[in-house]
Amino acid sequence: QTIFLKDYQVPDYLIDRTDLTFDLDPQATLVKSRLQVRRNPAADASGDLPPLWLDGVDLELLSVAVDGELLPAQRYSEQTDGLLLTVDKESFVLEVQTRIAPESNTSLEGLYLSNGMYCTQCEAEGFRKITFYPDRPDVMSVFTTTIVAPATYPVLLSNGNKIDSGTTEDGRLCVTWEDPFAKPSYLFALVAGDLQFVEDHFTTSSGRKVTLQLFTEPKNIGKTAHAMESLKKSMKWDEEVYGREYDLDIFMIVAVDHFNMGAMENKGLNIFNSACVLASPETATDAAFQRIEAIVAHEYFHNWSGNRVTCRDWFQLSLKEGFTVFRDAEFSADMNSRGVKRIEDVTLLRTAQFAEDAGPMSHPVRPDSYMEISNFYTLTVYEKGAEVVRMIHRLLGAEAFRRGSDLYFERHDGCAVTCEDFVAAMEDANGADLTLFRRWYSQGGTPVLDVEDKYDAEAQEYHLTIRQHTPDTPGQTDKQPLHMPIAVSLLGADGRELSLDQEASIERVLHLTEATQTFTFADIPERPLPSLLRGFSAPVKLRYRYTSDQLLFLMQYDTDSFNRWDASQRLAFEALEQLQRAYRAGGEMQAPEALLQGLSAVLENTQLDPALVAKMLTLPSPQELAEHGDAIDAQAIVAARVFVRDSIAKALASRFLKRYQSLDQRKPYQPVAEDIAERSLKNTCLSYLCATGSADALALAESQFMRKENMTDVAAALAALIEFGPADQAEEHLESFYQQWQQDTQVVETWFGLQAGSANYGTLGRVRELMSHPAFEFTNPNKVRAVVGGFAMRNFAQFHQEDGTGYEFLAEQVIALDKLNPQIAARIVTPLTRWRKYRTLEAEQIRSALQRVSDSGELSRDLYEVVSKALEN
Ligand code: ARG
Ligand code: ZN
Repeated sequence: QTIFLKDYQVPDYLIDRTDLTFDLDPQATLVKSRLQVRRNPAADASGDLPPLWLDGVDLELLSVAVDGELLPAQRYSEQTDGLLLTVDKESFVLEVQTRIAPESNTSLEGLYLSNGMYCTQCEAEGFRKITFYPDRPDVMSVFTTTIVAPATYPVLLSNGNKIDSGTTEDGRLCVTWEDPFAKPSYLFALVAGDLQFVEDHFTTSSGRKVTLQLFTEPKNIGKTAHAMESLKKSMKWDEEVYGREYDLDIFMIVAVDHFNMGAMENKGLNIFNSACVLASPETATDAAFQRIEAIVAHEYFHNWSGNRVTCRDWFQLSLKEGFTVFRDAEFSADMNSRGVKRIEDVTLLRTAQFAEDAGPMSHPVRPDSYMEISNFYTLTVYEKGAEVVRMIHRLLGAEAFRRGSDLYFERHDGCAVTCEDFVAAMEDANGADLTLFRRWYSQGGTPVLDVEDKYDAEAQEYHLTIRQHTPDTPGQTDKQPLHMPIAVSLLGADGRELSLDQEASIERVLHLTEATQTFTFADIPERPLPSLLRGFSAPVKLRYRYTSDQLLFLMQYDTDSFNRWDASQRLAFEALEQLQRAYRAGGEMQAPEALLQGLSAVLENTQLDPALVAKMLTLPSPQELAEHGDAIDAQAIVAARVFVRDSIAKALASRFLKRYQSLDQRKPYQPVAEDIAERSLKNTCLSYLCATGSADALALAESQFMRKENMTDVAAALAALIEFGPADQAEEHLESFYQQWQQDTQVVETWFGLQAGSANYGTLGRVRELMSHPAFEFTNPNKVRAVVGGFAMRNFAQFHQEDGTGYEFLAEQVIALDKLNPQIAARIVTPLTRWRKYRTLEAEQIRSALQRVSDSGELSRDLYEVVSKALEN
């Protein structure tokens, strides 16, 4: 049941209008659909009229009628995944009635209930769980939606504008919505509940006054201000940077507690995971505030990159996701610290996307086959896809890129198109040639660049030779060279940048297009130190033999803040890898002197952005170290990391204290870049201080915890206390924290996550206890991600305990989850799919846990795809 891109065919029939009526009931919602069907003029018109295929899953079919006549049974056949109708005319009205049970829908796809409120998630293929329909993005239709519900559901929402509302004879409410923009079924949304809302307005550059509404359950209405601000900033930014205006009179956001992903860009009615939209200073950390700003922007930006111009088929997913992630990243960079945003994004890419690219589910940005599309909402499609767009931006320049995006939106408005169309628009608007560049869409795997240099003092020339190769990935061998921008700068001995051409442009972007290429720089008066791949200008692994002294120099002087940080990471990697070797050989562990020296200088430098300092002080995660190595010994990674952390903590203790004290200036909380930066460094210092176990340090953490100034500081203090403090006190703090916040879903999720992800505290026993805590809910993905995910994905030390019980536990949870929510099961199994990365002992344990999942009975298509590919590759 594998689907291939090469098999794509245009739809046989189009649906010009879709009129839906929902009669809501938890166990028996009646869905009436009335479709205006027309033969697709673009389809092969030879021969008889082909049958009409309508996707449908878990539906109870009540009736089918064509042009008002009930259809006899021999005219259609019901199959497990849809309905096949014989057709005898070019165009007709099809009416289908189905019954569904939202209350029993734990997959959180289609129409379901979350805390008593009805909501939908249709992307990618959830609409087929609502009614029979050609559930594919290249069928675009104008929708009207009528919702009938008891008066206990006063808020009834769908896409577009409200055109009618009233009461039925039996006292139920009835509302009709119309969305004037033709859209694919995946953008359909419906919400019904006893909700409150806040309202604001935005006037577009052409003068359209748009009403903005944000709906939540009553208890959460006080947590909406930040999302509303973020929305207004996003609307303005998209006008300024992309010339994109909003197109309806109303834009609505709804927060729901049960949601598989972050959020969804349904036309005019975005639906959000509560954790990605609700925030207040007392309950949300800085990271949550920033995530909310980014996701609100992301979903809003989809109105153009996704909705007005959508995907022809799901292989093109990165067309909208890669582009929209690039757009939201640039927005966040403009709203906050550009350098720090880049560091965060690259960290995610290197940790998780590189691992995906090297694992059994490896696929190109535009996959060429899949079994279950839900499994391809991946870091590769999203984050690497965004890097591909960023490279186009870098290769063409900002202005040319804008010309390209203008042409793209103009040319394809109202259409379902392909990644190829996007690249073609970029070319056509600029007379550019991206022929070679296109390989980024079809070729998977992470390229590795080996760089060597030579300085010719006599000729005053500097030569940079770059070799690229991309390792094989499952199903793809013999990779071709890629076209990529390599931003470089050359530093002189005093840290000054050497000018690279007459126009005194300091940084230069090299176009790497061949397997091996040498670039020559003329008029270079001294042997320079190269600053390579500045701003991480291409999603690759770059190898160059920097000495420790050179890295220390770059940490101090590189004018590219990304590379400055990267130098600190290279030093840390070197130290950590050497210490892993020492640990495995049973040798002595030596303090990482160069790293200590570099970090000490950075910590002293009060001119540097504190957020950048905090990032430099943050060691690569165990997950990132695991991605780097092979035949991994998990305990060696943990031991090396603890050793380096403790060395830093000890060596720099007085400096940490000094900076902690100078940054601990109690000002009223604001989630703005400058303050976030200070808090991040302050709390990094606090964590290192506590790592020494000193009573004074723990007292500082305790006092910060008790002051309850904002969740960022409280959560950081609590994390330090449970990681490094005495167990009995940790228990007390956790208990008092829970007592205070037990009514707040988002804080309880933080509380779960802190424990499950704690190397010291989150033992398997503890995790099992958390799962039987009254606040835990196995049907809520956020809770599962906090506890099971916290343990399996963010608690390297405990998950990889040598007895293998962590792996067995995860297998057990995956098997149970698959019965309720296949999408979540197929995601949370990820750590087990990386078994080949480990040395024999762990590899066998992990593989056998995976085998146990595979043998557990019939798996969902989602889980089957991931597990079978992981066992094979
Ligand atoms: N389009 C949504 C977003 O990125 C995500 C939808 C995820 N759906 C899914 N089935 N995985 O904003
Ligand atoms: Zn998206």
